[in-house]
Amino acid sequence: MKIIAATKNKNKLREFGEILKGFEIISQEEAGIDIDVEETGTTFEENSRLKAEAIFKAAGIPAIADDSGLCVDALDGAPGVYSARYGGEGLDDEGRVQLLLKNMENVPDEKRTARFVCVITMVSSGGVITAKGECEGVINHAPKGENGFGYDPVFYMKEYGKTTAEMSPDEKNAVSHRGKALKIFEEKVKGL
Ligand code: IMP
Repeated sequence: MKIIAATKNKNKLREFGEILKGFEIISQEEAGIDIDVEETGTTFEENSRLKAEAIFKAAGIPAIADDSGLCVDALDGAPGVYSARYGGEGLDDEGRVQLLLKNMENVPDEKRTARFVCVITMVSSGGVITAKGECEGVINHAPKGENGFGYDPVFYMKEYGKTTAEMSPDEKNAVSHRGKALKIFEEKVKGL
């Protein structure tokens, strides 16, 4: 089954392909679809559906999108759906991590709990399929690790003794929010 991944994020595209091995995942670029879908929703569910629906309408073949982000308890769930835009357009991944650390400088260790959340939506002529995955961790005081992307260098998982940026791609996929959501998604698609 051929599915377009409604993302221009190369890291997400790679993770989709690594986990959804039974499908032919093609990028928007490969499908010749050059549209940027505005994430106007206030939930991960709304935003992932907006993206998948827009790409399905443009391409006519099944489209899969994820909306994901980091929810920090001490910041009332921020940056949440705004994770990619935290601090405004001028910041890169490293800048967003530094801003997060600054906003949490007075938060004690026991209150630094956070989770990555990912909602996957596939829209096709057969309807809509949704799957959600979460991954619990704590926010470190300084970045560590070279792998992954986004907030991975400060997302520490106690049970593995490392940040998700210190994990290999396979290790991260086995425990991550996106890995979990994609596995649930795969089961749902198989059951059709
Ligand atoms: P969006 O889903 O394109 O809105 O972007 C989600 C944002 O959340 C990314 O740009 C990252 O900043 C963050 N994020 C989502 N998943 C991960 C992950 O697996 N590791 C680190 N950061 C992530």
